[in-house]
Amino acid sequence: MRKPVIAGNWKMHKTRDEALQFIFNINVKVPNKEFVETVICAQSPVLRDLVKRQGDHLRIGAQNMHEATEGAFTGEVSAALLENIGVSYVVLGHSERREYYNETDSSVNKKTHQALRFDLTPIVCVGESLEIRESGDTNLHISAQIKAGLKGLSAEQIRDTIIAYEPIWAIGTGKTATPEQANDTIKNIRKVISSLYNASVAEDVRILYGGSVKPENIDALMAESDIDGALVGGASLSAKDFLTLVEAANPNT
Ligand code: PGA
Repeated sequence: MRKPVIAGNWKMHKTRDEALQFIFNINVKVPNKEFVETVICAQSPVLRDLVKRQGDHLRIGAQNMHEATEGAFTGEVSAALLENIGVSYVVLGHSERREYYNETDSSVNKKTHQALRFDLTPIVCVGESLEIRESGDTNLHISAQIKAGLKGLSAEQIRDTIIAYEPIWAIGTGKTATPEQANDTIKNIRKVISSLYNASVAEDVRILYGGSVKPENIDALMAESDIDGALVGGASLSAKDFLTLVEAANPNT
């Protein structure tokens, strides 16, 4: 059984006060981490404050990091520092970073290795544009992203990695992939992993869906065989909505 994951990606939202208030509101209501992994990925300057206040069942993630351990990289954040302040997860290769900051499969690959080296759980994002979806090349595109982005990981490391399938056309647009579309693409990702490793590794890897996930569609998404949770932007900004998503992922409710 793969443990579900609900990860909120706040992007560039929330001041420190707002972030602390949110954590205070959800902390005691988050389900036991044995059943669901609940993660909030926030802007770097508040990560330490959030880690200090995370309850037993909530964990904190970053939204990006640099692939080098240290050096002259003005404005960047290292995996070493993230680990040092108690951050547990890091989102890598989000489509916004690929589009606005020239993130490539090759940089995602270096960052994934580096994150694992520092005991951070990478949440590696892949996804196709509307153009690719309409041309029928989705699986080809995603499988190239998976092969290049996760290159060189051992079977053990890939089991420690979370993949997020996020069709770019569904992010922040209110358009969700249908649960079947999401599930089909995620099944295909498992096939790729199976061909690179083996069927048991492919069975074990957690693969999330992301793109306009909200309280209204989470149940249908979670009901699919291969969707192990969600990476959530907009709906993670509201404590009430976020808790609804986490509860929906809890197999015990
Ligand atoms: P959204 O964002 O839920 O607002 O569509 C998802 C994401 O970018 O991870």
